[in-house]
This record gives sequence, structure tokens and C-alpha cells, in this order.
Amino acid sequence: TFVVTDNCILCKYTDCVEVCPVDCFYEGPNFLVIDPDECIDCALCEPECPANAIFSEDEVPKDQEMFTQLNEELAQKWPNITEMKGQMPEAEKWDGVEGKIQYLER
Ligand code: SF4
Ligand code: F3S
Repeated sequence: TFVVTDNCILCKYTDCVEVCPVDCFYEGPNFLVIDPDECIDCALCEPECPANAIFSEDEVPKDQEMFTQLNEELAQKWPNITEMKGQMPEAEKWDGVEGKIQYLER
């Protein structure tokens, strides 16, 4: 599976959802996740993310390993998103800021 990680938080560009052939993205207030049970590992979404927030499960950076579990958990709770929509209002300001998990809204 592929995993959405920290740099998506407060950016949520949503380019990723547009290319997913199985529509397995789920949307929270300031973050998106991938349902690992639905992802078919096509890798199409990874290069689409302007924030470089999507990684293959085996390439998730060490300090972000908690996001694998977080994607699985939140995909069960949040609604499906299948079409691109506008990025968050301060996406450019937040892009690249580390440790945004502290701002994650569930
Ligand atoms: Fe969707 Fe493919 Fe990305 Fe998985 S790897 S979330 S199937 S676009
Ligand atoms: Fe997030 Fe990147 Fe998609 S910022 S919403 S993973 S395009």
C-alpha cells in the first residue's frame, strides 16, 4: 500500500485523488489518508503530490512510521474523496514545515 504522511497536513492539495483508479482516498478536516485494504499499489498518486507526502509503505521515513497505522485507522472513519478540490488556504505556508502531526484534526 501507499501511505500519506506528515507534509499533507494543512496543505491537502488533493491532486492525488484525481489519479487514483480505485478511489481509495478518505478526507479529514486537514489531512487525507489511503485505505490500505483498497490501494492496489499502482503508484500513480506518489508523483502527483506537490508536497511529496505520499510514500510506498516500505519507504515511509523512519520518523513517520506512525502514519501507516494512522492511514488504516482514519480511512475507516472519514468520508471518501474522489475529486480534486482546492488546497487548504495556507497550504504554501505550511508546505515543508516539520511535525505537523500536532495539528492533525480528526
Ligand atoms: Fe490509489 Fe494507486 Fe495511490 Fe494506491 S497507489 S492510493 S491505488 S493511486
Ligand atoms: Fe495531501 Fe499531497 Fe494528496 S498534500 S491531499 S497527499 S496531493
